[in-house]
Amino acid sequence: MIYPNGGGSTVRINALVGNPRPESRTHGLARTLAAEIAGVLPGATVSEVDLAVLGPRVLHPADPDACAAVAQVLDSDVLVIASPTYKASYSGLLKAFLDRFATGGLTGKSAVPILLGGLPSHHLAVDLHFAPLLLELGASVPARGLFVLESEVSGFGSFAARWADAHAAALVAGSAAPAERTSH
Ligand SMILES: Cc1cc2nc3c(=O)[nH]c(=O)nc-3n(C[C@H](O)[C@H](O)[C@H](O)COP(=O)(O)O)c2cc1C
Repeated sequence: MIYPNGGGSTVRINALVGNPRPESRTHGLARTLAAEIAGVLPGATVSEVDLAVLGPRVLHPADPDACAAVAQVLDSDVLVIASPTYKASYSGLLKAFLDRFATGGLTGKSAVPILLGGLPSHHLAVDLHFAPLLLELGASVPARGLFVLESEVSGFGSFAARWADAHAAALVAGSAAPAERTSH
């Protein structure tokens, strides 16, 4: 299904990758899902931030490339954020990068968390650890996170196409509406 672009504005999708190794399988998952989401949103653009390129520079407040990566993320409507599963959670590299953002700094954006892992018993880590981090940053997380086993990587393309078809509309709606708090 192709979703109409109600407001006529371009949806900017960014694939943010938190693997310390460049061009990882984790990167491939983020790139694939971002492309599939763009495929059902006419006119959508896709960009990428691979944190492996920055490495330890994510910790340097004034590093120009790290600052540019933050700006690129902020210039997005939909974030596909992928990490390898490390110690039943997301990578330290990804956390160090996201610590550059203010609390609520991703307000108005939709996010899709993806964890790639080797242990089926860690499948809940994406919703128990990763999604709450993105919510703390103010992002809307309209769908359950994706935990992908290493053995499932080869079949991810067809899964991603179906997932994008089912969830793209919710992602666009979420990026238009900042999350609300009902308690203080
Ligand atoms: C330091 C380290 C810790 C890991 N911890 C976990 C873990 O707790 N649970 C899990 O399912 N996989 C774990 N793995 C496996 C990685 O999640 C898996 O190899 C990775 O997602 C592969 O992604 P890549 O090919 O993009 O590097 C760990 C791997 C490393 C190197």
